[in-house]
Amino acid sequence: MNKLTTQVAIIGGGPSGMLLGQLLHKRGIANVVLERASAEHVLKRIRAGILETGFAELMREAGVAARMEAEGLVHDGFAISCNGATTRIDLKTLTRGRTVLCYGQTEISKDLMDAREAAGLPTYYEAANVALHDVQGKQPHVTFEHRGEQYTLKCDYIAGCDGYHGVSRQSIPASVRTEHERIYPVGWLGVLSDTPPVSDELIYCRSARGFALASMRSHVRSRYYIDVPLSHTVDQWSDAAFWDELKLRLPREAARTLVTGPSIEKSIAPLRSFVCEPMQYGHLFLVGDAAHIVPPTGAKGLNLAASDVATLYQILQRVYRDGDLACISQYSEIALRRVWHAERFSWWMTRLLHNLDERGPNDRSGDSGRRFVESELTYLLESKAGQTLLAEQYVGLPYESVRASQPMLRETEKAKLA
Ligand code: FAD
Ligand code: PHB
Repeated sequence: MNKLTTQVAIIGGGPSGMLLGQLLHKRGIANVVLERASAEHVLKRIRAGILETGFAELMREAGVAARMEAEGLVHDGFAISCNGATTRIDLKTLTRGRTVLCYGQTEISKDLMDAREAAGLPTYYEAANVALHDVQGKQPHVTFEHRGEQYTLKCDYIAGCDGYHGVSRQSIPASVRTEHERIYPVGWLGVLSDTPPVSDELIYCRSARGFALASMRSHVRSRYYIDVPLSHTVDQWSDAAFWDELKLRLPREAARTLVTGPSIEKSIAPLRSFVCEPMQYGHLFLVGDAAHIVPPTGAKGLNLAASDVATLYQILQRVYRDGDLACISQYSEIALRRVWHAERFSWWMTRLLHNLDERGPNDRSGDSGRRFVESELTYLLESKAGQTLLAEQYVGLPYESVRASQPMLRETEKAKLA
């Protein structure tokens, strides 16, 4: 048995785990990352593309923002098309200067992995059978296997950054955990292609045939999505069938100018809303997708992971710098407040842009549910107040600060003694 010791054990080397690790390292807080997959596998997962400014600021704070700043595309707005009529949401004007950044999750992962390797920080890829022990007690530790050897990692805290299918959440007893879940009847079929994007900004489309999204990774690489029934598989969708269906859902001008080409990645992501409460148990903190999932319609998943990281980073700095152990109890409360806002926004955007079955139990005939949703969407798009509502949430709500607890008590104690 190999014995290791650190301050923070980080389970999962996705964007949450790697960003937290880099930030903690900058503040002199030792950490070890345990990742189940290989580095190559992590870099192959094509996911998020849109970053809020809060995320970008954390990358800067972590000292890993150079390539993001050079290659990321600043987006001042995006478009929503409803049955072919397109409205631009001018993020910059509606939010007094705020924008989002288009930079792929794979690039973020690469920047964070390179920085971690350059700093020589301990990372165990292909770590198997990761298990958490004594999470609630005095000697938290993690056991795992790596290249046929057994390891025990003693630590002060564990950051569970291991995504929806990870082990960390399961280490909170079922009697303590409440899980809220909603599964949607559709998934997003995504195609990545080395073709110029159809527009400089994203276009979210609601159409009678279903949802479509025109996104991008650069001026020469596009990312497109359409929604498909959950029963569909990637093999059912040839590239030609995908492009044909996408053209039928895009507004006419975009369909006309769309440049198609061979897909370099194609996958289906199911749509889910999920929240686990609480997000902290003893010495364990859940971060990112390990604690919550949103449907991708509002581009909030990775951004929400970043706000969890920001909160935990503040807390661990207080713990190690100020000895403020009491502040850890604020984590769940602060993180969940922002999580529920983003969950609601993502559910709302999903409902507005997809043809979900909105039929009520007492509807007799017709499709009033669909008409209600289309009426709501056109109302929002025609109203400045409606556009502002969309814009403010799309650029991201502000991060909340952690309050000092123990140091303030110390001041009181000092005052009493004086
Ligand atoms: P993950 O990325 O899931 O990383 C978890 C890591 O833990 C993985 O590397 C996994 O291998 C590892 N792991 C799992 N189990 C174990 C274990 N037992 N032991 C050790 N390691 C383990 N978000 C946005 O903000 N903007 C967008 O535009 C956006 N678009 C999206 C589009 C799609 C199609 C999808 C599917 C998602 C999108 N998201 C978006 C969401 C975003 O990708 C996720 O929220 C993000 O990946 C969460 O990061 P994470 O590090 O918390 O979890
Ligand atoms: C993406 O580019 O992958 C992307 C962009 C916006 C979303 C979801 C995904 O809402």
